[in-house]
Amino acid sequence: MRKKILITGGAGFIGSHVVRQFIKKYADYQIINLDKLTYAGNLLNLKDVEDAPNYRFIKGDITDAAFITELFHQEHPDAVIHLAAESHVDRSISSPMEFVMTNVIGTVNLLNAAKEMWKGDYANHRFYHVSTDEVYGSLGETGMFTETTAYDPHSPYSASKASSDHFVRAYHDTYGLDVVISNCSNNYGSHHFPEKLIPLAINNIKNNKPVPVYGKGENIRDWLWVEDHAAAIDRIFHQAKAGDTYNIGGHNEWKNIDLIHLLCRIMDEKLGREAGASAALITYVTDRAGHDLRYAIDSSKLQNELNWTPSLQFEEGLAKTVDWYLENEEWLENVTSGIYQDYYKEQYAEHEH
Ligand code: NAD
Ligand code: TYD
Repeated sequence: MRKKILITGGAGFIGSHVVRQFIKKYADYQIINLDKLTYAGNLLNLKDVEDAPNYRFIKGDITDAAFITELFHQEHPDAVIHLAAESHVDRSISSPMEFVMTNVIGTVNLLNAAKEMWKGDYANHRFYHVSTDEVYGSLGETGMFTETTAYDPHSPYSASKASSDHFVRAYHDTYGLDVVISNCSNNYGSHHFPEKLIPLAINNIKNNKPVPVYGKGENIRDWLWVEDHAAAIDRIFHQAKAGDTYNIGGHNEWKNIDLIHLLCRIMDEKLGREAGASAALITYVTDRAGHDLRYAIDSSKLQNELNWTPSLQFEEGLAKTVDWYLENEEWLENVTSGIYQDYYKEQYAEHEH
C-alpha cells in the first residue's frame, strides 16, 4: 500500500534518523517532514536525503491550529509519526511555557486534525506519538520502568510529555483514534544537539573547555543508539495494535561520571592526547533542580513481541559518535555559533559554584 506519512520534528536529532530510515527503506511511501526549525531543528541533518523523490519538507509550527488543519486538508496524510517537541530538561526549567505550547497544545492540535480528517476510517490511519521514559519519574537503586509503571514526572519537560501521552490515549479511548505510543530512554548518536550531555561533552573536550558534570555525577541514564530507536519506531509503527504502548531501551545504564570518563578515554585516543588529558577538564557544577536520579527501561515487551534488539554495544556506539563529531566540524560549528553561545553562557553561569 502506498502511504503518505507526516513526520513531525524530522529536522531534529531523532526525527532526522527516523526520516532517513523511512526514506531509504520505503521507496513507495511519501514522507513529509513538518518542522518549525527551532534552534534544535536543522535541515543540514537531512542533507544526504533532501533530494529523494519520496521526501518533502514543510516548514510550520504545530502550535498553530489553523495551519495544522489546513495542512491536513491539503496533504491528506495516511499516518502521523509525531516527534516535534521541546526536548531539553534544562530549557524547560527556564522556559516551561514553551514546553506546554509545543508538547501539549501542539500534540492536541495534531490529534484534533487527525480526528476530523480521518473520521469514519480510523482503522486505516495511525497516530504514532514518540515519548520518553522521563514520564515515569525517577527510580531508586533498583527496578525498571515497564509499560504499566505509573506516571510521575518531575521536570516541566517530563510533565509536558506526560500530559501529551495522556491526551493521545484519551483520543483513543474517547474517539477510537488508532494511536500508538513509545517511551524511550536517552538516545545518543550523530546529529545530537550539543546542549545534551554527550555531544556537549564531546564539543567541550574537543575545544579544551571544562566538561560540566551536575552534582556528584551519580545520576544514571540508560543510553540507546539513536538508529536503534528509529528501527524500533519502524517496527512499532507497522506492527503494534491500536492503543498499544512500548518501552524502548538498551539495557545500558551508566552513571554520568563513568560515562564521561569513558568518553574522555575515547577522545584522548582519537585526538592523540596523553591519557588523562581530557579527564582533567571534568568540572563538577551545581546540580540541576529536581534532577531525576535514575532511569532504566525494561524493553522486554518490545523484544519479545516485535523481535527488536539493540544492534550496537555502547563503547562501539560512543566511539562511532565521537568519530562523527570529529568528521563533521562544519555541522558542529554551524549549530554552536550565534545563539548557542548565549544559551551556553546563561545555562552554565547559573551552574557555577
Ligand atoms: P530535538 O529537540 O532534537 O528535535 C525536536 C524537533 O522538533 C526540532 O527539529 C524542532 O525544530 C522541532 N520543533 C520544535 N517545536 C516545534 C513546533 N512548535 N512545531 C514544529 N516543529 C517543532 O528532539 P529529539 O531529541 O530529536 O526528540 C524527538 C522526540 O523524541 C521528542 O518528542 C522527545 O520528547 C522524544 N524523545 C527524545 C529522547 C532523547 O534522548 N533525545 C528520548 C526519548 C524520547
Ligand atoms: P541530558 O543529556 O540533558 O538528558 P536528560 O536530562 O533528558 O536525561 O542529561 C543527561 C544526564 O547528564 C542528566 O543526568 C543530566 C546530566 N548533565 C550533566 O551532568 N551536565 C550537563 O552539562 C548536562 C547537559 C547534563
